[in-house]
Amino acid sequence: MLYTQSLDHCFASGVKRAEVEAYAAELAPALKSLKARQVASASPLLALPFDTSDLEEIEHLAADIRRRFDHVVVIGSGGSGLSGRALIGLIPPPLAPTFYFLENIDPDVMTSLSARLDMANTCFLVISKSGTTAETLSQFYIWLAHAGKKLDKQAAQERFIVITLPESSPLRRSAESYGLHLMNYAGDIGGRFSILTNVGLLPAAVAGLDIKALRRGAQTVVEQMDKAPAPVDCPPAVGAALQCAFVRKHYPMSVMLPYSDRLAGFAGWYRQCWAESLGKQGKGSTPVPALGATDQHSQLQLYLDGPKDKLFHMITVNRGGTGQHIPAPEDADMAYLQGKTTGDVMQAEQRATLETLVRHHCPVRHLQLESLGEEQMGALLMHFTLEIMFMSFLLNVNPFDQPAVEEGKRLAREHLLAGAL
Ligand code: PA5
Repeated sequence: MLYTQSLDHCFASGVKRAEVEAYAAELAPALKSLKARQVASASPLLALPFDTSDLEEIEHLAADIRRRFDHVVVIGSGGSGLSGRALIGLIPPPLAPTFYFLENIDPDVMTSLSARLDMANTCFLVISKSGTTAETLSQFYIWLAHAGKKLDKQAAQERFIVITLPESSPLRRSAESYGLHLMNYAGDIGGRFSILTNVGLLPAAVAGLDIKALRRGAQTVVEQMDKAPAPVDCPPAVGAALQCAFVRKHYPMSVMLPYSDRLAGFAGWYRQCWAESLGKQGKGSTPVPALGATDQHSQLQLYLDGPKDKLFHMITVNRGGTGQHIPAPEDADMAYLQGKTTGDVMQAEQRATLETLVRHHCPVRHLQLESLGEEQMGALLMHFTLEIMFMSFLLNVNPFDQPAVEEGKRLAREHLLAGAL
């Protein structure tokens, strides 16, 4: 197994193991349907980890981008931007090429970047499933015009790669008319679940990640689900049952707490997928991305001593003895660092936080990784994708739409058309 999941520290807070098992039992029909690939919108997600047919094209293009450019600007909103950001976060800094993710339409960032970026050394990945998202299209038009002013026509064209649905859209029409490199966005996979398609894998491969291993890691989780005789044998189903038990006992917050900078992007991905997939009809829970040990110095006071309304998901990597040795401290007060590594300090911090949370009756699910690489990341992504699927069965919501968001998009368009801003 690429990770283990322990619920041992979840039951000192009013929720009983038997309640979680009861919710897990309710998931038997869902497990059966997912195994039989009878959940139409989930089936492409379950097939994806086993598909390698698209990887060569992605790797080839990524190698070309790495060879020719020092900077990569990723333009995409929601899942179209977060996917790449989460994956490349796996690489400790500094990254080469450098990445800029333009997920927001912040005028200050755009103005500053366009004044400073060396266009000759910059490539743009423009990603939008619909090809209509206002923020993405605004930035695309600006950068295309900017490139047209700074470079000759061919040079401008060849640094834009557009990933969008194969059907007609404003983005696709522009890309075609300017002769830009086009790739198809998978039509049968929702934007926020597209992380293991070219949407996440192209930036990942440009950054130097092994994209085959990402898919392989996800594959192990699907295989385990396919072999599971019952939901209690399927970790994502157990995770959903746990989350459901706590939501129903008035724990409306779900804190994702990895102890690795390299998983900070993953926590952001989880926040979007959990929130947008399950926050419907007055149901769901609020996902909170956090980071250990950093947030011990910003959030832990609240977590330990504030409202008892949070379920914690702690992800740790075995750190003992890893990292650099800390030079012998001159100050006697710091003698406990003698002979220790940075990994030892991290290991002590994560252990201490787990123990303290437990002592304060805060429920903690513990996901443990022996090491952290592409396979483990792929496994975590598929685990939580499936956990969301199972949770959607328990809450009886459709995880694949986001109807409430449409109203704001429509209003923004109306305000822009009316010109009264
Ligand atoms: O999950 C989703 O569908 C959304 O978060 C989208 O990813 C986001 O709205 C961006 O949409 P698009 O890729 O069409 O530009």
